[in-house]
Amino acid sequence: MRPRLLLALAPNVVLALLALWLKPDGAERGPALLSIIGNFHILALHIPAALLLIVPLFEVWERHEDAAGITVRRLSLISAVGAFGASFCGVLHAHFNGYAGDGVDRHLWAGVAASFFAAGAWVVLEQPRRIRLIAQGAAIAVMSLAAHVGGELVHDEGFPFRPNKAAAARLDKVMPAVEPVAKRDDYAQVIAPILEAHCVECHGAKKVKGKLRMDSLEALKKGGSEGPAFVAGDLKQSLIHVRVTLDPSDDEFMPTDGNPLTEEQVRAFALFIEGKPIPDDVAKAALAATRAPRQANKK
Ligand code: HEC
Repeated sequence: MRPRLLLALAPNVVLALLALWLKPDGAERGPALLSIIGNFHILALHIPAALLLIVPLFEVWERHEDAAGITVRRLSLISAVGAFGASFCGVLHAHFNGYAGDGVDRHLWAGVAASFFAAGAWVVLEQPRRIRLIAQGAAIAVMSLAAHVGGELVHDEGFPFRPNKAAAARLDKVMPAVEPVAKRDDYAQVIAPILEAHCVECHGAKKVKGKLRMDSLEALKKGGSEGPAFVAGDLKQSLIHVRVTLDPSDDEFMPTDGNPLTEEQVRAFALFIEGKPIPDDVAKAALAATRAPRQANKK
C-alpha cells in the first residue's frame, strides 16, 4: 500500500505545483514543442473520460469482493495515467496557448483534482469492493465536473443543455426583437451582442488577447495593454472603434480573424461611444449581420 500511495501521489503533487507555477495568463508563448504538447490535451482527455466510466462496469461484471480483478486493475492504471497525462497537457495548453480567465482556472483545477481522484481509485485496488466502487464513483464525479467546465469553455455557458442559436431563436429565447429606440438599452441589446459574436472569442473569459476583455462595459472601460477600449464621447481614444476602422490590411485591424464588421455595426459602435441613441434601422441592420450564421458570413 505504501509504495502504491507514493507512486500515485508523487506525479500528481508535481502536477499541482506545475499548475501553480505555469499560470494561464492569456499570453501565447513558446517554445513550440510545449505549445504542441499542450494542444494534445484535446486528444488525451478522451482516454480518462472513457476509461474511468468503464472501470466500475468491469468491477460489477467481475465481482471480485476482496482485491480487484485483472481487468479492473489494468483499466484503472491506464485511466489514472491518462488522467495525469490529460491534465499535464492541459496545464501546458492553458499556459502556452493563450488561455486565461475564471472558467479556465476552474477547469484547470478540476482537471488536476480529477487526476488525483483517478490515482486514488487505483491506490485502493486491494481494498474491499465497496471502497473501490466509492473511489471510482468519486473519480467519475470529479472528472465529469472538469469535463463540464471544459465543455463550457469551448461551447459557451450552459453546454450541453442549450440548443443551437437557430433552434433557440425559434423559441424566442435568444436575441429578442430589437426594441424601439426610446426604451432600448443600447449596450445590452445592440453593442454587447455584436461584441459577443465578433470579438469575445478572443477577448473574453477563455482568451484575453491584448489583456483586453470585451464581455462587459466595465471591462471595455478598463481596457487592455494599450489603454481603455471605450472612452465615452471620444472616438479617437476608444480602441474598439479605432481598431475596427483601420485599413483591413493593417496588422492591428480587428477582428484579426473572420469578417470585418459591417458599416452599420461600426456606426452603432460610433453612436454608442458618442452617447447618441442608435436609430432602429442601424440597430436592426447591425444585429442582422451579427445573427447571420458564421459560415454564411465567411468569405
Ligand atoms: C481571432 C482573435 C481576435 C478576434 C476575433 C478579435 N481580436 Fe482584438 N486582438 C487580438 C489579438 C491577438 C490582439 C493583440 C495584438 C494587437 O494588439 O493587435 C488584439 C488586440 C485588440 C485590441 C488592443 C488591446 C490592447 O489594449 O492591447 C483591441 C482594442 C481589440 N483587439 C479590439 C477588438 C475588437 C473590437 C474585436 C471585434 C470586432 C476584436 N478585437 C476581435 C485578436 C482578436
